[in-house]
Amino acid sequence: MRKTGSACLIACLLSILHLSAQPFMTNVSGRNARPLDGRWQAVVDLYACGEQMEIYKNRTAAEKGRFVECTFDDGFRLDVPGDWNSQCPELKYYESTVWYKRDFDCAPSPDKRLFLYFGAANYRTTVYLNGEKLGSHEGGFTPFQFEIGDKVRAGNNFIVVGVDNRRTAETIPALKYDWWNYGGITRSVLLIETPRRFIEDYTVRLDPKDPERLWAQVRIAGGGRGETVRLSIPEADFSATLRTDAEGKAELSAPVRLERWSPEHPKRYTVELCSRHDTIRERIGFRTVAAEGGRILLNGKPLFLKGINCHDEIPQRRGRAFSEADARMLLGEVKALGCNFLRLTHYPACEALVRMAEEMGILLWEEVPLWQKIAFSDPQTLPKANRMVTEMIARDKNRCAIILWSVSNETAPGPDRNRVLEEMIRHCRALDPSRLVTSAFSHTTDTPTSLTLEDPVAELVDVIGINKYYGWYTPWHCRPQEFVWNVPCDKPVIFSEFGSEALYGNHGDPNDSTNWYEEYQARNYRDNIAMLPNIPHLAGTAPWVLFDFRSPYRMNGRYQEEWNRKGLVSDKGHRKAAWYVLKAYYDSIP
Ligand code: GCU
Repeated sequence: MRKTGSACLIACLLSILHLSAQPFMTNVSGRNARPLDGRWQAVVDLYACGEQMEIYKNRTAAEKGRFVECTFDDGFRLDVPGDWNSQCPELKYYESTVWYKRDFDCAPSPDKRLFLYFGAANYRTTVYLNGEKLGSHEGGFTPFQFEIGDKVRAGNNFIVVGVDNRRTAETIPALKYDWWNYGGITRSVLLIETPRRFIEDYTVRLDPKDPERLWAQVRIAGGGRGETVRLSIPEADFSATLRTDAEGKAELSAPVRLERWSPEHPKRYTVELCSRHDTIRERIGFRTVAAEGGRILLNGKPLFLKGINCHDEIPQRRGRAFSEADARMLLGEVKALGCNFLRLTHYPACEALVRMAEEMGILLWEEVPLWQKIAFSDPQTLPKANRMVTEMIARDKNRCAIILWSVSNETAPGPDRNRVLEEMIRHCRALDPSRLVTSAFSHTTDTPTSLTLEDPVAELVDVIGINKYYGWYTPWHCRPQEFVWNVPCDKPVIFSEFGSEALYGNHGDPNDSTNWYEEYQARNYRDNIAMLPNIPHLAGTAPWVLFDFRSPYRMNGRYQEEWNRKGLVSDKGHRKAAWYVLKAYYDSIP
């Protein structure tokens, strides 16, 4: 039915009002949350015409006298959480829309609020409840939520979710990137019930200005002036009362005595926040991190980051990681390698992994997916990128394991890119002055015996990451021990990517870099390690990469078959020869 001009305008305005999901609440795992995970009904919509066909109304063929073509009935199902690519061979390469649907019973209560929360869905998501559009979210790796208390009905309700993973030049990441474009509702969906006036947001950490003081900020939703929130840390014999302002916000700075969290001593405390209507608690670690004179200081002491990179993927399942079991498998391998640091590439990892890293004492670098070619000249890119930064920090700001927020990976210097990254760095610092800001750079001026970093954005970050593949993409033209690094800033440097490929079980000449031999990969690790003393202010290393991972870029039919083979561990979990080289190096560092 064609809409008249004014109706079209109203529809347009309404859709803008619906534009994006609300800011999500802090610490959903500490709330009255009911998982809606399970086998959801699904419809594959290759032409992305389901919305126009009103699939969200969930019409069923049972409706007499009505011709219903687009229906979920008797169709196939997909696990939620989980990417669709790894659940169904026909969807391995699928890039378009899939519609999900599930029913749920509900007994709405007048003195409670009700939210629908998504841990993540890749990439563009539109959510409907009982046939009514709730809104949409763009971005594949951070949570979003919708308030539904005034929309649910007593008894049966149904949710329809459209997820579209198409890549475009304007998405973040954009058209091409070196990981699999897993689509779908990739993390859990929760139904969260809260008191009408609840503690929707809080930050609790050591005061960056004075680490002998606790700093906290809380916000009560629907609250107003004069609400009190009691913040207590029983084990530290600490409690204090915050009193909210007209916006329901309150801030605290008070003396406290807390054991510091560190990789060697991952001490966490139960922190409880209690208002008149709401109580929430979680385990939080307390530490300080700083960059001074070319070193990274944790709790005031310099440390060396013995790291590795890892995608949020379980290679044995060929799918996205999302569970505690997945987190335990990945982090177990990080620990086995002798690491105290993990670079989460190239996007926020599942929350289970971030929380478990904190429990296991593994420091983290977390990143938004501005990977290489991004549409920096597009006016929409900066707001989109800043929203991804906001959501990444909002979810993980109380996770002491995270010491670095990264705003990009290997983006090429240029006026638009420099401007966008500068704004993102400013935004990052405004949201969280307690952590370090970094970025992984790769555009350097190279000679056969040296590299020089002259990137204007390097002047703006606290810690410089540099990715280089000598011995793989760039052959050695001199002995590694003689290769010179010129990094002009007196800032800590992390060698944030290096390595080469090897097919597990493929053995041969350690001098042959063309046949994916384990022996060559091991030799290349030894060469890069030999070069490390030449890197000024080297504060850490994160070789690329812990596990072989899937990527459409990797088209060598004999050795890759759509797998990036730079893993130290194969896709089946076998450790390659280079794993032992890195392990020995990390074990040699006090
Ligand atoms: C780049 C990039 C990685 C990529 C790697 C590679 O540095 O940051 O995402 O997988 O190189 O080429 O294997």
